[in-house]
Amino acid sequence: PAPSRMRMLSPGPKGSRSRSRPPPLGRDFEMGNVLGEGAYSTVNLAKNTQTGQEFAIKIMYKEHLRRHNKTNMAFVEKDALIKIQTAGGHPGIVRLERTWQDNWSFFYVLSLARNGDIQSLLFRLGSLSLTCARYYAAQLVDAVAFMHSVNVIHRDLKPENLLLDDAFRIKLTDFGTAKVLDCFDGRARTFVGTAQYQAPELLTASHTTRSSDLWAIGCNIYQMIAGRFPFFGPSDYLIFEKIKRLDYDFPEGFDSQAKDIVRKLLVLDPSQRLGAGAPGTENDVAALKAHPLFAPVKWDTLWTDPAPPHE
Ligand code: ADE
Repeated sequence: PAPSRMRMLSPGPKGSRSRSRPPPLGRDFEMGNVLGEGAYSTVNLAKNTQTGQEFAIKIMYKEHLRRHNKTNMAFVEKDALIKIQTAGGHPGIVRLERTWQDNWSFFYVLSLARNGDIQSLLFRLGSLSLTCARYYAAQLVDAVAFMHSVNVIHRDLKPENLLLDDAFRIKLTDFGTAKVLDCFDGRARTFVGTAQYQAPELLTASHTTRSSDLWAIGCNIYQMIAGRFPFFGPSDYLIFEKIKRLDYDFPEGFDSQAKDIVRKLLVLDPSQRLGAGAPGTENDVAALKAHPLFAPVKWDTLWTDPAPPHE
């Protein structure tokens, strides 16, 4: 399909429907190659024909979403990204530039990340050096801390959702399974994510908290260093059994500080994970950032210092 030629029936966000509104948004973009395909979306490279600036456009086919009962994903993703942006945005989280829809599809214009994702980096390299893993883990923690501070829980943190921009800094993406908390306690009753990263409280009590993302951060740190999942099995059911028993071990040579942080994140009781305390308390996210694994990290210049080379 050539989305750039599609008729745009409903331009832009609410409030933009003035008489002097600009021409339909889709015409501002020239579509390029497909960058990626998900279960419910395709992401295309796109260029703003006015400014020449390049973006990634996520296209979700309405009928496909409807057939799989996933229309809500599109709304949740937009809500979460707008919430993040309204709070000023974060360098480690994709920016939602514009949205529009036509009869067939939703279109989300996102900041472009040209260097793939951590998943493909892991695929190429097997595993990351401790220096690289620490760097990406720190960026992940920083991005998640910001997201949590604006009451968004991601719920599907995994290497393929950690995109890499021009400077090889992470950009967290895929907020389709996020939870935007509108009160203190957000509950969700459905399984939304990827088996390997599911926190045990999601499997037993059906309760989502910010702390579920901390568990997933533990899984991501483990995977970047070990080059494999902490919990793995032939079926989701068997993976869940291992998660509930905390049945994992570290490969030979796994760095001891990294081991320590993983052990403190992969804790069955969500309230006891490192960084799970309420803001301002002793075990808030500052405690996670203060872990010895992150001692070499310069948090103030984390998003401006160059990334370490991939070894
Ligand atoms: N694939 C999915 N989202 C992307 C983005 N924002 N940039 C590049 N590739 C992507």
